[in-house]
Amino acid sequence: MNNFTYCVPTQIRFGKGQIACLAEELSKYGQNVLMVYGGGSIRRSGLYDQIHHLLKDFRVCELGGITPNPKITAVREGVAICRAHKIDVILAVGGGSCIDAAKNIACGAFYEGDPWDLVTDGSRITKALPIAVVLTVSATGSEMNNNAIISNEETHEKLGIVSDTLYPALSICDPTYLYTLPGRQTAAGTADIMSHVIEQYFQSYDGAYITDRLCESVLRTCIHYCPIALEHPDDYEARSNLMWASTLGLNHILTLGKGGAWSCHPMEHELSAYYDVTHGEGLAVLTPAWMSYVLGEQTVSRFAMYARNVWDIYEKDKYRAAYMGIKRTREFFNACGLPDTLLRLGIGRERFEEMAAEAVRTSGIATRSYVHLQKEDIVKIFDSCAV
Ligand code: NZQ
Ligand code: ZN
Repeated sequence: MNNFTYCVPTQIRFGKGQIACLAEELSKYGQNVLMVYGGGSIRRSGLYDQIHHLLKDFRVCELGGITPNPKITAVREGVAICRAHKIDVILAVGGGSCIDAAKNIACGAFYEGDPWDLVTDGSRITKALPIAVVLTVSATGSEMNNNAIISNEETHEKLGIVSDTLYPALSICDPTYLYTLPGRQTAAGTADIMSHVIEQYFQSYDGAYITDRLCESVLRTCIHYCPIALEHPDDYEARSNLMWASTLGLNHILTLGKGGAWSCHPMEHELSAYYDVTHGEGLAVLTPAWMSYVLGEQTVSRFAMYARNVWDIYEKDKYRAAYMGIKRTREFFNACGLPDTLLRLGIGRERFEEMAAEAVRTSGIATRSYVHLQKEDIVKIFDSCAV
C-alpha cells in the first residue's frame, strides 16, 4: 500500500433518536446558530419543528431554500447573515446541497472578498466556522469529508473546494430521516455512492487489497439494499445500511493506500453546471458509458475482478466477464429507475465540446485518472450515451 495520513475529526452520531444530543453538542460552540436547509422537505417531515424545539434556548437564524446543485448566490446570503448576527456555528439540515452550501458559508464568513474567490483559489481558505449536520439523504458523504461543491450560474461552473477546515464537527445520521426520501432521490443517491466507490476502486495501483475489498463491500451493500429501500421506504435495515454506505463511500477510507484522480465526476459536474441535472442521475448515465470506453488490455483484469467480486460473475474469459459486469451495472441503474441516456436528462449534443474542455480544465482527468482522457475522449463518451 502507498503511504497515507488519515485524520477525520467528525463526530458521527448514528441511529434512531441521536438528535437528542443536538443542543448539548451545539452549545460547545456558542448560542448563535445559522440553520441552513432546502426547499421544504424538513418542514413536511416535522424535522424543522423538532430542531426548533430542541434549540429553543439558542438564537437561531435561518437560510432556507437551498437548491440541489447549490448556488454561490445562496452562499453570499449566508455569509452576510453570519456577519450580521455573529454566528457561532452553522447547522446544515438536509443532503449534500445543504451541507456544501454550509461549508462554503463557513469559510466565506472569514474572508473579506467574494466567496467565489475561495472556490477558484482554495489557498485563500484559512479558517471556517464549525459545522454540524443533520443528514437526510444517503448520497454524497459530505457529512464526513472536507469537500464542498458549489455552482456559479453566471459562469456555468460547478467546482469543488477542499480544505481540512471544512470537516463537519458533528453529523447526526438517523436513518429514519430517509423514510420520506422519494424513490428518485433514493436511486440517485445510491448511484452517487456507487460512483464514489467506483472512482476510488478503478485506479491503476493494485497493492491495496484491503481497500479494494472494502470498496466491493460498499458496492454490494448498495446493490442489495437500494431495491429494498425503493420497495419499502421505511425499512430501517435498508435505510441504515445505505446511510452508512454513503458516509463510507466518501470519507476517504476507500482511497487509502491508492489515490488518483476521478473520471465520471468531473464529466458529470459539467452536465450539472450546464443543465442543472440531478448529480446521481448524471452519474448513472455516464458510469457504464465510461466503463465501456476505458475497457482495454490495461484495465480488463480489474474489470473482471469487479464483475466477480461485486456481481458474482464467474466467467473465465476476462473480457467476457468485464462486459457482463458493465452490463449488470447498467441494468441495475435502469432497474432502480435511473436514466440511461443524456437525452432522458434533457441534454443534447450542442455543448459536448465545451463541457469536455471544461472537464479537462477543471480536473486531473487528462493526467492522473485511471485511463487518462483528453477532450476528444470525453466527447466520444458523451456521444456514446447521448440517445
Ligand atoms: O430541498 P428539499 O425540500 O429538502 O428537498 C431535497 C432535494 O430536492 C430532497 N430531500 C432531501 N432529504 C429529503 C428530501 N426529500 C424528502 N425527504 C428527505 N429526507 O432531495 C433533493 C436532493 O437533495 P440534495 O441535497 O441536492 O441531494 P444530495 O445529497 O444528493 O446532494 C447533491 C449535491 O452534493 C454534491 C452534488 O454535486 C450536488 O450538488 N456532491 C457533494 C459531494 C461532497 N461534498 O463531498 C460529493 C458528491 O460527489 C457530489 O458532487
Ligand atoms: Zn458524487
